[in-house]
Amino acid sequence: MDKQIDEILKNAEAQISQAKDKQELTLTSAKFLGKNGALSDLMKGLRELPNEEKRSVGEKLNILRDKLNALVKEKNEAIEEAILNEKLANEKVDVTIPVKPASFGTMHPIEILKKDLVDYFVAKGFELKDGGDIETDYYCFEALNVPKEHPAREMQDTFYIDSETVLRTHTSAMQVRTMESQQPPIKMISTGNAYRIDEVDATHSPIFGQLEILVVDKDVTMADLIGTLDGLVKHLLGKNAGIRVRPSYFPFTEPSIEADATCPKCQGKGCSMCKETGFIEMLGAGMVHPKVLEMSGIDSTIYKGFAAGIGLDRLAMMRFGVSDLRDLYENDINLLKQFK
Ligand code: PHE
Repeated sequence: MDKQIDEILKNAEAQISQAKDKQELTLTSAKFLGKNGALSDLMKGLRELPNEEKRSVGEKLNILRDKLNALVKEKNEAIEEAILNEKLANEKVDVTIPVKPASFGTMHPIEILKKDLVDYFVAKGFELKDGGDIETDYYCFEALNVPKEHPAREMQDTFYIDSETVLRTHTSAMQVRTMESQQPPIKMISTGNAYRIDEVDATHSPIFGQLEILVVDKDVTMADLIGTLDGLVKHLLGKNAGIRVRPSYFPFTEPSIEADATCPKCQGKGCSMCKETGFIEMLGAGMVHPKVLEMSGIDSTIYKGFAAGIGLDRLAMMRFGVSDLRDLYENDINLLKQFK
């Protein structure tokens, strides 16, 4: 019996160490440890042995089983290690290979402009307020002195969500929201999208960006408004640029103005971009109507304010020399990546 056990062990050692992979190992180990394997055969023989031998032979067979199991386990670990090593060797990263340059996106021109304007005003002590694109009829019109049925509503053809909710037609709604929530002195800007039912053409889009400016304090005058706008235009277009002011009408400002900026292409001489006028229409503005101050809870006998609403798209066109507004919205990567 001892001889047989030694034999099996020797064979097992030789064969198991030969196994090239897990599949082979499974087959080989079955030969020794399987149901019909060498160990089982010996176990079956136990029954025929006289009782006094059963015990010692049984012990020997148990030891044999442990040894066989250990051999299989050891080989299995060796195979796994080999697999891992091979994987590691194949996945080795060569850090000396030159990398392909990553392609970075660029900020959209309107966003570049917006960021520049926000930085400019925040540096001058203005607070940046965030408003939503969906606004109530009250903040968009009513509280800005544009009651229902007022003809001025027609100036801003509107996307209504329901009779009391609109896609805001201008960022001026943020004037009211700001004045309702804080008392003067107020120096606020707010930027975002506004929406009007406009046909798309070279200078119009139903969605466009605006920057709202609001200042409310005791001694605010039209001169402060004009000075602020002039400073802004000089910041954007250079120190030789300036503004031209025309009287206008908005229900929420009195008096109201529209301001044009010196055409950046011809420096005011007249060209195709400015239709030979030397100026480009830029914004609406005025002194905040006393009624609007009062409706927002501010005493109009003590405080005055000025407000302005600047169209960002036209400004971006001027700044980046884009002649068709649609180019800014079509997201043609080749066009957009020129602007940094
Ligand atoms: N909200 C006006 C518009 O969109 C612009 C404006 C803003 C006018 C503030 C006066 C004061 O046309």
